[in-house]
Amino acid sequence: MKDTVFTILSNRQLTSSVYEMKLQGETGDFIGPGQFVNLKLEGLYLRRPISVCDLKDDILTLVYKAVGKGTEQMSRMKEGQTLPVLTALGNGYDLTEAGEEPLLIGGGVGVPPLYLLAQKLREQGKNVSVILGFNSKEEIFYEEEFRALGCRVTVTTVDGSAGVKGFVTDALPQAYSYFYCCGPEPMLRAVFKATKTSGQFSFEERMGCGFGACMGCSCKTVTGYKRICKDGPVLRKEESLWAD
Ligand SMILES: Cc1cc2nc3c(=O)[nH]c(=O)nc-3n(C[C@H](O)[C@H](O)[C@H](O)COP(=O)(O)OP(=O)(O)OC[C@H]3O[C@@H](n4cnc5c(N)ncnc54)[C@H](O)[C@@H]3O)c2cc1C
Ligand code: FES
Repeated sequence: MKDTVFTILSNRQLTSSVYEMKLQGETGDFIGPGQFVNLKLEGLYLRRPISVCDLKDDILTLVYKAVGKGTEQMSRMKEGQTLPVLTALGNGYDLTEAGEEPLLIGGGVGVPPLYLLAQKLREQGKNVSVILGFNSKEEIFYEEEFRALGCRVTVTTVDGSAGVKGFVTDALPQAYSYFYCCGPEPMLRAVFKATKTSGQFSFEERMGCGFGACMGCSCKTVTGYKRICKDGPVLRKEESLWAD
């Protein structure tokens, strides 16, 4: 973890409520995909956690949805402004389990951390399939970015306005070696039930400190309580309480 300051390079709107922010700063501490940063925003006591979507040299990309005070403030920020950032938080995904045909399943703003993961798996020569789930066509983002990595991409929309009509679980392929999943909790539960292989889930909890000190993000697992910010946010399928 590092307590540092990043400078905003760009902040572009991807959909009506989702934005992509690129920032420049010290990125040396990051260990891999699935980690997150905790941002200090003006006038807000608690920092706001956002997953690392992409990381190239000293440039960090975040993709976030404006849902409240903090993220709305972020959406108004401009190139050249600075942001205090706690970097390289959380455990991240374990890529060693992926096998040759990993499946990445993302829903809404659960999609961003899978982008860096897809990149790393493609660099290892894996055949990566990705399912991106949204409510409707207007909410889709990063479909082309995943295709450009050489991933096999399936989009699902709940209203059927693009791709497969339904939920991510309606588009699961017959065969895959392992899965990685990030999205809202009801989606994680559905994926837990529908998948036949082992896999990893990225969890979200309201956070206090973001680095393991306050226990504010503890959640019960089959092997006892875990801090989502420090022992997670990635937990193995077998660890989650649903496995009980
Ligand atoms: C490890 C982690 C990674 C995340 N990565 C991303 C990401 O890549 N992109 C993205 O858009 N969002 C991400 N989130 C969720 C993001 O942190 C919240 O949306 C954000 O903190 C909301 O702050 P706010 O001030 O805008 O909203 P608030 O005014 O604080 O709250 C608005 C709404 O968001 C909910 N909310 C607030 N904080 C959280 C939280 N920590 N987790 C879940 N719901 C919350 C509240 O219950 C409320 O319904 C992540 C959360 C975690 C824990
Ligand atoms: S947020 Fe403080 S321990 Fe996780």
